[in-house]
Order: sequence, then C-alpha cells, then structure tokens
Amino acid sequence: MKTVYLSENETEKAAEILKCGGIVAIPTETVYGLAANTFDETAIKKIFLAKGRPNDNPLIVHICNIKNIYEVVSEFPEKAKKLADKFWPGPLTMILPKNKSIPNSVTAGMDSVAVRFPKNKIALEIIEKSEVPLVAPSANLSGKPSPTKFEHVKNDMEGKIDAIVNGGDCEFGLESTVISLIDEKPIILRPGAITPADIKSVLGEEIEIDKNVFSKPQTNQKVLSPGMKYTHYSPKAKVFLVKGTTEKYCDFLKDKNENGIFALCYNEDIPFLKIPYISYGKKENPTEQANKLFGALRECDFKKAEIVYAHFEMINEISIAVYNRLIRAAGFNVIEI
Ligand code: TXA
Ligand code: MG
Repeated sequence: MKTVYLSENETEKAAEILKCGGIVAIPTETVYGLAANTFDETAIKKIFLAKGRPNDNPLIVHICNIKNIYEVVSEFPEKAKKLADKFWPGPLTMILPKNKSIPNSVTAGMDSVAVRFPKNKIALEIIEKSEVPLVAPSANLSGKPSPTKFEHVKNDMEGKIDAIVNGGDCEFGLESTVISLIDEKPIILRPGAITPADIKSVLGEEIEIDKNVFSKPQTNQKVLSPGMKYTHYSPKAKVFLVKGTTEKYCDFLKDKNENGIFALCYNEDIPFLKIPYISYGKKENPTEQANKLFGALRECDFKKAEIVYAHFEMINEISIAVYNRLIRAAGFNVIEI
C-alpha cells in the first residue's frame, strides 16, 4: 500500500480517506494516533492488522464536541461531567458505560468504552470533517514506544496505512491519563498529563491508582485495562530501570563498559558517565522527561544499544506517568541502589 503524506492543512483530505474506510495517522497533543471511523468494522480490522495489536486490547473513541457524547456512551455520570468540564478538550480518557451502537471490535467485547476529547487543533478538525467519532490507538507497531514525531510514525507505518498527517512534534509526549468511572469510586488505569491531584481538585476525593500502574499484573489476573498486560514501549535492547541518586547511578555504571551498553540518563548525570548515553531531560523536570522519553527509547534502537540502564527518580506526579512507561519498557526489571 502506498502511504500518502499530508500536511496539517490537508485535514479535508484526511477526512475524505477516513470516510471511505481508510486508516490515517493523526497528531494529538499526547502522541500520534492511528484513526478510523468508529462505526466501520472493516476499518477497525485494518487498524489491528497494521499495528499487530492483540484483538483483546480495546480502542479509545475520540470526539470533537461534547454534544456527541451520547453517540459513544449510554450514561454520562455526574463525576464524568465535572471532569469533562475541567479537562476536555485535553489529555484525559474516561472509561464509561458504552452505547450499544459501538462495535464489539472497538471495545474488545467489554461493556465499557474509552472516550477522549483531544485538544490538538488538527485532530479536532479531522474528527469534525469526518462527521463521526474516530477510534485512535497510538500509531506505533504494537510493543514499540508510542510515536511523538512524524518520523516515528513513518518508520513504523510506512506502507501499512493510507496516510499520515504531519503535525510536527506532540506537545506532551506520553499517552492520555485513563480513568475508569464505571464504579462509584474513580480509579486511574494509566497515569498521564492530568495527575491524581488535578482530578482530586475537581472531584474532592482521594483518587485511587490501580496497582498494576506500578507493577506487573500476575499471569491470569483479571486487569481493569487490557493494555496493562502487554509488554510496551520496548526498544530491542534489554532495559533496566535503575533507581537512585546521580552519584549512586553513575557509580553503579562505572565498570559497565562493554560494547552496546548505554545509559538512558538525566542531563545532570552526563559529566560523570564514561559510557555512551542518551539523555531524556533534566532530573527536576519530569514534564521534559515525558516529552523526550519515547524518542529516547527509539534512539536506543537507532544507536544499536544492547543493554540500557535507565536512571529514574520520583520527583512529582508527572514522574508517575514516566515511571509507568519506563518500567514497562524495562519489562519490570528494576534495580534499586
Ligand atoms: O493519548 C492517547 O490516549 C492516545 C492518543 C492517540 O489519543 N491513544 C492511546 O491509545 O494511547 P492506545 O490504544 O494506545 O491505548 C488505549 C489504552 C489501552 O491500554 C487500552 O487497554 C485502554 O486504553 N482501554 C481502552 N478501552 C478500555 C476500556 N473499555 N476499559 C479499560 N481500558 C480500556
Ligand atoms: Mg498504545
């Protein structure tokens, strides 16, 4: 298949392709998404095929106007309304009871549906011109880091999808916060730019974070979000997450000088390292780390890293989102020093 490249001004063309059952990668403020018409089951199948995504991992439905919410959900509870008022459009996905018209292939047979109202202008224009809600999983091959730049999408999806809309670099760089509002007590299933404190400030209650955000689900354990089960964000290298101060991290690496070993580090570590490194931002700036992490993981492949030691320290609530992606990239191999 020939993949067409579209500029950010060609949203009309992107919508045309989507209306005809095609699949198109589009920029959002979090990561690039691979979009299709929510109600076109043939197009949905193409998405799973292009990504190599397991069929039991459901998709997020994207809307461009709160008026369309009941095309997607059957109930819009009070707490969801409050969160929508405050955070939509923006990087928050809510899990809600699904409208019967949403195909089972979108929700992987679940009774709930994930819905998000993004704020990226290009994404909004494309949804609006398509005249239907669009599903959009991250536009990477399954298992690889989510794409935050046009080139990332091109590398993964060239020849597999109808078009890519070039919207430059994504603003945040990690996927949206996912919160389930299915039960009375809301629970965060995937941390992101909208933090537990942000949500607490609106709902006025402590917000639980699912324990699988921080650790590996047990085999056969029933998870609230199927995406939690899978290995994610992995470069080809074996990755270890190393927790500790700059001094301890650099000391730990001082004898590790075989070929193919890389440090995935903070800027502050650089003067003390004697091995090749890729930095993902300043230690005190988790927002910068969120923005650079997926690109840095892809660079590990580009530089043919075989073993990667990734430095991590918990600084604030954005660090939770960074940690959640990094331990998955590391296959849950954590070294505490
Ligand atoms: O920022 C984002 O959310 C990006 C952009 C493109 O919007 N999209 C994205 O989609 O990250 P994806 O498919 O890569 O991740 C969706 C996550 C998966 O972990 C999936 O298991 C979970 O949301 N999910 C989807 N529907 C669900 C449901 N009904 N219940 C629980 N989890 C659900
Ligand atoms: Mg994804």
